[in-house]
Amino acid sequence: MSPERGTRRETSLKNKLLVFTTAAAFFASFGGVYHQGTAFGQAAPNPAKPGETAGQHFKNVTVLKNIPVDEFMGTMGLFSAALSFCCKDCHTGAGTSDPHWEADPPRKITARRMVQMVANINKENFNGAQVVTCWTCHRGSPNPAITPPIDTIYGDTVYVPADVLPAANPATAGTPPADQILDKFIQAEGGADALAKLTSLTEKGTSHLYGEVQEDAAEIDAKEPGYIYTVVHQREGDLARTYNGREAWMMLPLTVVGQYPLNGSMLEGAKLDAQLEFPGGIRQFFRTWKVTFPSMVNGRAVYVLQGTTATGLLATFYFDRQTGLLDRVIRYSNSTMGRVPTQIDYSNYKPVNGVMMAYNFTYGWISGQEIYTIKEIQPNTSIDDGKFGRPTQRAK
Ligand code: HEC
Ligand code: HEC
Repeated sequence: MSPERGTRRETSLKNKLLVFTTAAAFFASFGGVYHQGTAFGQAAPNPAKPGETAGQHFKNVTVLKNIPVDEFMGTMGLFSAALSFCCKDCHTGAGTSDPHWEADPPRKITARRMVQMVANINKENFNGAQVVTCWTCHRGSPNPAITPPIDTIYGDTVYVPADVLPAANPATAGTPPADQILDKFIQAEGGADALAKLTSLTEKGTSHLYGEVQEDAAEIDAKEPGYIYTVVHQREGDLARTYNGREAWMMLPLTVVGQYPLNGSMLEGAKLDAQLEFPGGIRQFFRTWKVTFPSMVNGRAVYVLQGTTATGLLATFYFDRQTGLLDRVIRYSNSTMGRVPTQIDYSNYKPVNGVMMAYNFTYGWISGQEIYTIKEIQPNTSIDDGKFGRPTQRAK
């Protein structure tokens, strides 16, 4: 396999003022995690095999060794986000031509100790429930604050929403019940009949990766019953996400693990991405729906619902009060170090075969943010099922 090589960008996140207005601002502040590979053949660099644990795949993982590689990479993203660190702040040579991911510099040893501390805190105080995470203390800083500033009592409130939102009573909270919001959504999308007639989609446009200057060509294929293939032709190789009803894959051009299968609630998250292309099935996707308090997203008033699946995937839906369409979805996959969020913001809806489709959306996840501009959507195209399986890195 090709060795990892230097990076082209590392966003300095240090000394950032910790002011959270929206989750989007948070994701926008986190981008410098990519590492360049040297050569591209048909196989992605250092791919992880299905069923492989982090302990098997990597050289020196001693604590988080029993989790799959996708979840492990999620925890690395959570560490970076929680401390506003880049990979290189804990890893010797990350972002250079000579990375030593397995080396144990002092800060990485501290982090490993913190992993054990967090597990113990949760075990000894919260019956093993994952209540305390790196974020609980760090909130974007390597040196957690010790004393509450007087301004938190008398100044402007800084609102950091919880993952699990409180249930609201529609009679008093100024929100319709969940069923009505979902009914209005289906109507706004074009109605159940129009939705049922949409069986596949081919979308073409561009993706703008956070921290990059130029735009990359992007293509999304989706097919009932909920398959999806997203590919972005980035400069150093392709980024791809796939889901084919059984398995899901993540492929990245610039990272320490070039390709890995998704497991558990990460896999279910990929399934939700596919379902969102065919929104008629969203209601059934979740076992329970909860209505919570209305809010604002990107300056628009929204009704907020939370859905939970039988296996515990949690997702928050922000429905535009005026149009009834989706303005935002945040879905949370589980990891041993806390929930791993993915946020999609939608705008510029236009009808395609009588169904409203967002021509602009932003896909923010723990290792990057892509801003998509769709130029063309073709409905009911014929797409080979093979496209939704394991992706192949393009030849260079
Ligand atoms: C706060 C410190 C910290 C940050 C930031 C961090 N890591 Fe780690 N990383 C660790 C620790 C600790 C381990 C070892 C975990 C264990 O032993 O269970 C590790 C292990 C790894 C390994 C396994 C290496 C091997 O062969 O043993 C890889 C790969 C890795 N990290 C990648 C990343 C990437 C990519 C990023 C940036 C997105 C990142 N890490 C950010 C602390 C960090
Ligand atoms: C209970 C609160 C708490 C939690 C939870 C916590 N930390 Fe910390 N951490 C601290 C404190 C306090 C310090 C600073 C210690 C000092 O200044 O001596 C620190 C320091 C660190 C440092 C050293 C930072 C530096 O400046 O070099 C790293 C790395 C770190 N933590 C990683 C983590 C990771 C990763 C997690 C989650 C697995 C985590 N911490 C969870 C309280 C916490």
